Amino acid sequence: MLILTIETSCDETSIAIGEIKNQRIELLSHVVSSQIKLHARWGGVVPTLAAREHQKNLPLVFESACQKAGFKSSKMAQAKIDLIGVTQGPGLIPALWTGVNFAKQLSRDWQKPLIPVNHLEAHIYSAWTKSLPQQFSLTDNPFPLLALLVSGGHTLLIKMKKHLQYEILGETLDDAVGEAFDKVARILGLGYPGGAALSRLARKGEPDFSFSLPLQKNPALNFSFSGLKTAVLYKALSFLPKSNSKSIFNQKPKPDLNLPLTRKQKQDLAKAFEDVAVESLLSQTKKALARHSFKTALLGGGVSANHLLRKRWSEELFLISSRLKVNWPPFELTGDNAAMLIPVVYFKWQKISQEKRKVFFQNWQTLEAKADLSL
Ligand code: KG4
Ligand code: ZN
Repeated sequence: MLILTIETSCDETSIAIGEIKNQRIELLSHVVSSQIKLHARWGGVVPTLAAREHQKNLPLVFESACQKAGFKSSKMAQAKIDLIGVTQGPGLIPALWTGVNFAKQLSRDWQKPLIPVNHLEAHIYSAWTKSLPQQFSLTDNPFPLLALLVSGGHTLLIKMKKHLQYEILGETLDDAVGEAFDKVARILGLGYPGGAALSRLARKGEPDFSFSLPLQKNPALNFSFSGLKTAVLYKALSFLPKSNSKSIFNQKPKPDLNLPLTRKQKQDLAKAFEDVAVESLLSQTKKALARHSFKTALLGGGVSANHLLRKRWSEELFLISSRLKVNWPPFELTGDNAAMLIPVVYFKWQKISQEKRKVFFQNWQTLEAKADLSL
């Protein structure tokens, strides 16, 4: 069985083709075209600009994905591909629609079933596409499974008792962790998206101060990053002469605050922030693992590219129980990509009865993008 998937929820245009072989997903091609440079000058993703770029890129990315999978023509791809999957949401609505419309057209022209995929679900399932230390096979039973989903829009602790079934154990009460990385990066003048740049800066930091851990005394499994971000801002302002910090508040709003800090001050602020943000993710995960009985702990989403989080996740969770399987995505599947949709499409299709499968051939007529889709 061959599956083609399309992702355009934010600022990456991506198409992947995967084959189900020996109960595993084998990627035949995976193309990601990033728009990050285009949006960086605006200090964030501009939805209409993103949509325009997706529209421009989709035919080229499609062509390239087909070629790389060994299909010399669209006709040849049509003959081989069994299912089409597309990110339906959550995400930026104009961006989502470009992918959904492209997928609808393809489904109609090729007469193939069209399966909508939740973007959050796809991040969790990247471990079935490829993961460290081991890719899950399609017949593995890693349940009950705890997933920590960390991205620019979400911070979720999720319990899964079986495939495609989700119970939210904890979530952020304010900013998502990726959003907090990006906002602190703006304070330090690192541009957008600043998560990775902030993390690089943190490697050289040796702060003689620290920030307090959010929600420490609260027994719930939630997260909060907004207070931490404000604490970084006040600490940064405390490094500046008084007259200077007053004039900063009187400036016109701009994408980057870029306070006049020394390199050493920026490194220390980045390190102190990253330490607490990652500790917060780890401590809530450990709490969840202690309270419920889990077979597997899984990481996913853009922030799982963070080196400190990956290091601590891979080293510390094993210590909780030697029987716990600990997994995380390879670096190339942490950000937004189409490859992570393939297992979701596969498992959804398996769940649909023969009778109901017919409906998915007609999805091109009615499928809609949904900006606020939840798990
Ligand atoms: O999953 P993703 O690509 O998009 C969403 O679905 O939101 O996540 C993007 C987020 C951004 O906030 C970005 O700053 C963050 O992931 N990110 C990082 C790192 N690399 C990307 N945050 C911390 N450390 C990193 N190395
Ligand atoms: Zn994402």
